[in-house]
Amino acid sequence: MSTLEMARIHLKKVVIVFVVLFFITPVILVIAYGVNCRNFISPLNEEDYRDAIAKKESPLKMKEDELKKYEERLNTLSVALRRQFPNAVEYILQILDDNIPTIYAITPTHTRHVQKAELVRLTNTFLHVKNFHWILVEDSEYRTPLVTNFLAQSGLRYTHLNTATPKNYKMKENDPHWLKPRGVEQRNLALDWLRENIDIATNSGVVYFADDDNTYSLQLFEEMRFTEKVSVWPVGITGGLKFERPIVGEDGKVKGWYAAWRPQRPFAMDMAGFALNLNLLKKYPNARFDITAKRGYLESSFLTQLVTLNELEPRAELCTKVLVWHTRTEKPKWKEEDAMIAKGQPSDPRVEV
Ligand code: UGA
Ligand code: MN
Repeated sequence: MSTLEMARIHLKKVVIVFVVLFFITPVILVIAYGVNCRNFISPLNEEDYRDAIAKKESPLKMKEDELKKYEERLNTLSVALRRQFPNAVEYILQILDDNIPTIYAITPTHTRHVQKAELVRLTNTFLHVKNFHWILVEDSEYRTPLVTNFLAQSGLRYTHLNTATPKNYKMKENDPHWLKPRGVEQRNLALDWLRENIDIATNSGVVYFADDDNTYSLQLFEEMRFTEKVSVWPVGITGGLKFERPIVGEDGKVKGWYAAWRPQRPFAMDMAGFALNLNLLKKYPNARFDITAKRGYLESSFLTQLVTLNELEPRAELCTKVLVWHTRTEKPKWKEEDAMIAKGQPSDPRVEV
């Protein structure tokens, strides 16, 4: 190839590259600086554009400022709280968990010598349970100072209610303990309170009837936490037996009841042996305990309105573990106290026992 020919080919290449660059460069520039070009073409639009952004941003900015204020307030509060109770903040954060249902424990309670001791025992247990809300209902015409003050310093989330048992159903001091049903209207009031005050659309929850004299393991609350309708388990020291329990079949369903006394009752178990999903209260707005129910049929009077045997959910390893005990506190002997009162030397009434 001659030198001239080679020079011609080179020139051809240079021309092609030049032509390609000549047409492509403006396209690349337009793509890369498109926004600026637009602004350049119409500088007025930029202002409009800024205004529009500012308009969108201003409510957001206000919310942000508001949130900042709340954050500061929370900080101040938690510092103040920490000063008084060094572990309070960690404790509160640890017992609240938005992702698990709340346990609403309903406890009827009545004035007697051991009442405060019972409430202390319960509180010491309940303080360890996450997402726990205590509904304490006094069997009384009014909310007593003892219970009011007790709850205020308990550290628990609570609701304090009261309703007196109708006179004809109220137990007398020396009646045998089984003569009349106990805690019935108190539980019914708590059920109505839940229906009226807890929005089930935004709150998932489980309802448990926790009498003030029983003994509860912490595990029990985790067994009941995810109840779809009604969950059941054994109860220790009850019905004159070491324990009573639901009889669970091979298919994992409840078939009947291991109980000495009338096992043919629809739900032959103690109040402490079951929990229900909060949403059943809305589904069955009239479901309640029947104060006129025959002895031993109180639990059945309520549960027959909510579920069938087949729907029960056995817990505590298919009802093979005892996690709650139907303990009963001995009535204290008060003979000497009475004698002192008779002598005109009562103990100091300012001391709360
Ligand atoms: C057994 C069951 O465990 C109770 O759940 C059930 O209410 C009772 O039988 C019944 O058949 O009515 P028991 O241990 O004999 O219970 O009863 P208590 O523990 O004396 O009373 C149950 C709850 O009602 C307790 O929380 C208690 O403080 C409360 N109560 C008792 C009252 O509110 N008012 C009373 O006059 C007596
Ligand atoms: Mn009891």
